[in-house]
Amino acid sequence: MPIKTLAVIGGGTMGSGIALIAATNAINAIVVDISDSQLEGAKVYHTKQLDRAVSKERMTQEEADVAQTRLSYVALMSEASDADWVVEAATENVEIKKSIFSQMSETFRDDVVLATNTSSISITDLASSVPEAAHRVIGMHFFNPVPVMKLVEVIRGKETSEETTAATIALSEAMGKIPIPANDSAGFISNRVLMPMINEAFHAWTDGVAEPEDIDSIMKLGCAFPMGPLRLADYIGLDVCRDIMMVMYRGLGEDPKYLPNEKLINLVEQGQLGDKSGRGVYKYDKE
Ligand code: 3HC
Repeated sequence: MPIKTLAVIGGGTMGSGIALIAATNAINAIVVDISDSQLEGAKVYHTKQLDRAVSKERMTQEEADVAQTRLSYVALMSEASDADWVVEAATENVEIKKSIFSQMSETFRDDVVLATNTSSISITDLASSVPEAAHRVIGMHFFNPVPVMKLVEVIRGKETSEETTAATIALSEAMGKIPIPANDSAGFISNRVLMPMINEAFHAWTDGVAEPEDIDSIMKLGCAFPMGPLRLADYIGLDVCRDIMMVMYRGLGEDPKYLPNEKLINLVEQGQLGDKSGRGVYKYDKE
């Protein structure tokens, strides 16, 4: 069944990106967030991105206007209950996600796929919060910035049905993405490979091997990364990096190699979260 309307739970960076690529691929998107400022932020981001697409002649003004009309913003999940698909993109915290999943299973029709944009949390564990709907639960992991990054990592839980998986692959493609499967193991593939590299860059910094600028330049110039690992950590959010590392530490046999570097933890505790707080490893102009 073609998906006409997607509900996105969470209007932060990932949620607003997911909604935008839905709208630019002929799918209505309803952003749900209890925070007015998050909804406002999503709206501003959408307008800015659509204006930019027009100014870069990637879209006509008319196409941008149509995409804008496909986007809506609501505070309550019940206001999105007619959606044909739902993607949860809330905070990377298992208890918060489980409570949202319970609400999703009560709110949406019982043929609606309940997808999660989790970066690292077990899909089987999340599905355990909605036992009757477990076959409709799947990981649909997008990457930041969503409009630019081509990948959707698709993660099946123990009870995810073939039908749900096939529909997720079809929807990812309809949104212009390339879906690739990974098994349901903490951090899946992307973060299992990425986060130890980011953590090691922090270790190299705190061991005095090089300063952040040089670590990042070495990885950019020597390994062709678009951003060095410390710059990327700020971009992702240092709190998000820490949380993902802790999910992997707990989920992969408490192997100390996944424990976040102390400097990373300290920066988070001081509220230095990266781009979003104006300061992380580096300082940023918030504008
Ligand atoms: N939304 C939409 N488009 C954006 C964007 C955003 N937030 N940020 C950048 N872009 C677009 C720009 O508009 C520009 O498009 P154009 O060429 O058509 O004008 C294009 O991307 C390039 O942007 P810039 O010229 O401003 O800057 P760069 O060339 O330095 O690229 C970047 C910026 C795309 C962010 C690039 O540095 C990059 O690819 N960085 C690595 C990002 C990455 O690794 N992401 C994965 C993070 S891990 C993750 O998300 C998983 C999670 O679980 C942690």
